[in-house]
Amino acid sequence: MRPITAPFPAARLRRTRTTAAIRALSRENALTVDDLIWPLFVRDGKGVLEDVTSMPGVQRRSVDMIVEAASEAAQLGIPAVCLFPYTDPALKTELCEEAWNPDNLANRAIRAIKAEVPGLAVMTDIALDPYNANGHDGIVRDGVIVNDETVEALVKMALAQAQAGADILGPSDMMDGRIGAMRTALEAAGHRDVAILSYSAKYASGFYGPFRDAVGASGALKGDKKTYQMDPANSDEALRLIARDLSEGADMVMVKPGLPYLDIIHRAKQTFGAPTFAYQVSGEYAMIEAAAQNGWIDGEAVMAESLMAFKRAGCDGVLTYFAPRIARRLKAG
Ligand code: PBG
Repeated sequence: MRPITAPFPAARLRRTRTTAAIRALSRENALTVDDLIWPLFVRDGKGVLEDVTSMPGVQRRSVDMIVEAASEAAQLGIPAVCLFPYTDPALKTELCEEAWNPDNLANRAIRAIKAEVPGLAVMTDIALDPYNANGHDGIVRDGVIVNDETVEALVKMALAQAQAGADILGPSDMMDGRIGAMRTALEAAGHRDVAILSYSAKYASGFYGPFRDAVGASGALKGDKKTYQMDPANSDEALRLIARDLSEGADMVMVKPGLPYLDIIHRAKQTFGAPTFAYQVSGEYAMIEAAAQNGWIDGEAVMAESLMAFKRAGCDGVLTYFAPRIARRLKAG
C-alpha cells in the first residue's frame, strides 16, 4: 500500500493528532487483555513466594501460590498462563527423566490450575533444560546435542503435559522434527484438541539470562545453545522454520526474543497469516525494570509502549512478565 497525501497545507498530518478523541479515532492498533500470556515460575513447597533477583517484581511460586496467581489472571481477564518449573538440582540427570514424570512440578501445577480455574488456558514449556544436568534443551552425548533422541524425550514430555490437562504445548527446544512427532503422538493418544504454540523462530540470545536464573539453569549450562537456537543475523531462516512447523501441525507460532526481532514478527505474520506470538523475554523485562528503578525511564509508559509495538508488528499476542500489570492498567482505562 502506498499512502496518498495531498500537498501542504491541504494535508496537515497533525490534524489527526489534535485531540485525545481524534487520536483515539484514528489509532491503528490496540492492545487488549486478550493479547496476554503470563509466564509463571513454579517451585516446590507450600505458601512460597520467592523473588527472582534479576527480575524485580517477578516471583517463583509454590503450586498453591500458582493457583492464586492463576485466579488473579482469570479475574483480570488474562486468557492464558505459561508454566516454567524451577527443578530441584537433585532431580536433574543426563537423560532428563524428570521431564516426563507425571508428578513433576509442572504437571502438578497444570492439574492444580485446571482443578481450580478451569477456564484459564494453561500453556507449558517443552524443552529439557530444567531437568538436564547439562542445562541444555536436548540430550547431550559426547558434547553433541543429539536431535532424534531428544525428540523422543520431548514427545514423552508432551504426552505427560497433555495428560495433566495442558491446553497449549510450547516446544521451546528448537530440535528438528519435534512438532510432527508430537502431533502424531497426541493424535494417537486422543489429545486431538491440545494446541501447539511452537517457539519456531527462537534465537540464541543473551536476553534469556535472567530466565536461566529464575529456573536455576544458569549454573548447569555448559557452553552455549548455538547449534540449535538461531543466529541473530538470520531472517529468511526464521521463515523456513515457521513454514516447517506449520506444515508439521503447529497451530500457532512464536518469535523470541521480542522487541529486538520485530522485523521477524512482521515478516512472519505477513507471509503466513498464522496466529503469531512474541515472547518479551526476561532480559527485555529486566532492562525496562532496571532503568525504571534508576529513574532513567518511566517504567509504566515504556511497558505500555513496548507491548503496543508487538501489536503494530503484527502479533496476535505476547508472552510477557508484565501481563498482570498491563492488565490492571487496561482495566483502569
Ligand atoms: C527453555 C526456555 C528459555 C526461555 C523460555 N524457555 C531459555 C533458554 O532457551 O535458554 C527464555 C524465556 C525468557 O528469557 O524469559 N528452553
